Amino acid sequence: MADNNKKPLLEIRNLKTYFYTEDGVVKAVDGVDLEVYPGEVLGLVGESGCGKSVTSLAIMRLISKPGKIVDGEIIFDGRDLVKLGEPELMKIRGNRISMIFQQPQSALNPVFRVADQIGEVLEVHQSLGKRAGDARAIELLKLVGMPDAESRAKSFPHELSGGQAQRVMIAMGLACVPDMLIADEPTTALDVTIQAQILNLIRDMREKFGSSVILITHDLGVIAEMAERVAVMYAGEIVEQADVIPLFQKPIHPYTKGLIGSIPVLGRVRDQLDVIPGSVPNLVNLPPGCRFAPRCQARKEYNLSICTEKRPALHDFEPGHKVRCWLYQDDEQHVAPLKAKKTAKEKK
Ligand SMILES: Nc1ncnc2c1ncn2[C@@H]1O[C@H](COP(=O)(O)OP(=O)(O)OP(=O)(O)O)[C@@H](O)[C@H]1O
Ligand code: SF4
Ligand SMILES: [Mg+2]
Repeated sequence: MADNNKKPLLEIRNLKTYFYTEDGVVKAVDGVDLEVYPGEVLGLVGESGCGKSVTSLAIMRLISKPGKIVDGEIIFDGRDLVKLGEPELMKIRGNRISMIFQQPQSALNPVFRVADQIGEVLEVHQSLGKRAGDARAIELLKLVGMPDAESRAKSFPHELSGGQAQRVMIAMGLACVPDMLIADEPTTALDVTIQAQILNLIRDMREKFGSSVILITHDLGVIAEMAERVAVMYAGEIVEQADVIPLFQKPIHPYTKGLIGSIPVLGRVRDQLDVIPGSVPNLVNLPPGCRFAPRCQARKEYNLSICTEKRPALHDFEPGHKVRCWLYQDDEQHVAPLKAKKTAKEKK
């Protein structure tokens, strides 16, 4: 369980990141609040397109046109990253915060050999010389299970397969010991053995060095194994956030209940998050009330008209357990604990 007496290492407040496209304004991240405590693994889950990658790219300040952070704060170790200039951000990226990107091919620089890209992270941030950098790059490639690491180190990104590029990305993410690692789908496209090795490396980094981790994955089994706390995103918002055990054993938001209910008892499937009937709303044209309303069975059962009229806020249901749903608050957005607890019991 997260030690909430500790100060968060990262505190995101009301983050809004929009894309200004020809079709309109895509509200990819629309008022996200999130904390990450020192040394914890926070799992971030939600269906495809709900804003997980955009949230992590915003933390790294890597949102480019037509996207823009339009509001909010990203307080990392006491400083608001939204307000920092590029030279200061460069000192933080890859050093204090590193990221394993979801699309490794596009994140690697096509004109540099693999060893030079990994070496650059090491040289910039750890002042290693070229030879020591190359040797360390090869060592890291071996650690992430790269076959024939010595010769792959001399390859250019286009000469790598998808799985190999992903390993290079992971090696770069692990090249320094960051205060925080953001791992966006770090093990997709890798086979199960390598997947387990990578998760172990992330776990080691955290145990040995106390790094915090934001782990984004579609695999709820991985979340259950790795994370202490979980935040669930839906259509650009956090809808529920809790320690991992209560979240899996007693989810309260109708969307999270759908996700957890969709996990098969035996075995794991990929893309478990895509089985709730209906689809996510268009982020250009969002419904006026709760964004989950068009798919929500609970709304129909409880006949809640407010759901389609007013957007619920994220608030504390219990200490450490937050939810964004009208079942658990009144229309003044005050907690309605009796109704909430009764409802939670009834629905178990
Ligand atoms: N460059 C862009 N231009 C326009 N819209 C964008 C851009 N990048 C992201 N978006 C939109 O932002 C929304 C959130 O995307 P994001 O990549 O964060 O989703 P995700 O939760 O990471 O999904 P997945 O699980 O598939 O990785 C999507 O609707 C996406 O289409
Ligand atoms: S606010 Fe209403 S529509 Fe939204 S999840 Fe809760 S019950 Fe369902
Ligand atoms: Mg993504």
